Amino acid sequence: MSSLTDVQANALTQAQQRIQQDLLTALDAFSIPEPLKGAVYHAVMLGGKRVRPALCYATAALKPNANFAAVRRAAVAIEMIHCYSLAHDDLPCMDNDSLRRGQPTCHVAFGEDTALLAGDILQSMAFEILGSRLFDQGPAVAPAIVLKQMQILATASSKMVCGQVLDLQAEGKRVDQDALENIHRNKTGALISAAVMIAAVTVFEGTDPAIPKLREYAQAIGLAFQVQDDILDIISDTAVLGKTAGKDEQVDKSTYPALMGLEKAQAYAKELHDQAFNALEMFAEDAAELNQISEFLLARKS
Ligand code: IPE
Ligand code: IPE
Ligand code: MG
Ligand code: MG
Ligand code: MG
Repeated sequence: MSSLTDVQANALTQAQQRIQQDLLTALDAFSIPEPLKGAVYHAVMLGGKRVRPALCYATAALKPNANFAAVRRAAVAIEMIHCYSLAHDDLPCMDNDSLRRGQPTCHVAFGEDTALLAGDILQSMAFEILGSRLFDQGPAVAPAIVLKQMQILATASSKMVCGQVLDLQAEGKRVDQDALENIHRNKTGALISAAVMIAAVTVFEGTDPAIPKLREYAQAIGLAFQVQDDILDIISDTAVLGKTAGKDEQVDKSTYPALMGLEKAQAYAKELHDQAFNALEMFAEDAAELNQISEFLLARKS
């Protein structure tokens, strides 16, 4: 029998394989001039844990007979927005980082102008994919569902940008816990939550009691994800992280370990994951994959 760790790795590995293929199919459907094309493929195809797509698939798995093509498009769109956010986050005018996913950052490899435009085009491509019929084999999903998907993704993307500006403004300052929570929920939590909710609205009726429970789960792991990212910046190393460790302290970022100390931040991440676990109670065994992803996130080293 496989151990829990194997099962976790399998759920994520399967998601990684599927999204890798789907992202390539999606990118290949566009005609992009060089050097922008190279920068876009660099930003999207080279590594990454693919946590957001995995959350889309695991949420959709709660309803086995749902329209899976629409979920696959949503997973691609979310990961494109995430990859755009990373290309911009690393720019010299933002976090000024040179290493991402174990590779030179997009602007180091392709120049600032091209990296900026790679992020820009990925953002619009994400919405184009959502509105397309890519992967469809059966009947199209109802337009009302596509509209909901677009609203969820657009709202989360705007929140991400708002969180990013607050994050930059909080550098070198001591912000209180409420302010820090607001930054983290926006810059990172919103897109993680969207990964769950975009699949939830695709497979469940709007009135289904599953929706608020999934939102509770998603918001808890969304905040926990950035708390853990802050922790890993301290306790992990550059080779494992694939990005420069110790960077937050160097530039005096407002982070959970800086605010409350490393141990309390670790306990808080655990508490949020417990909240996430409790939120899934109504799904019983059906939520195994979502719980496995949550456990993976808490235990991750990169
Ligand atoms: C990094 O996200 C940026 C944050 C929002 C904290 P991930 O840790 O999901 O990065 P990849 O996609 O695995 O590289
Ligand atoms: C990133 O937060 C949030 C984004 C929207 C990309 P960080 O700046 O902490 O992410 P990393 O550590 O560079 O991946
Ligand atoms: Mg940042
Ligand atoms: Mg950064
Ligand atoms: Mg970070």
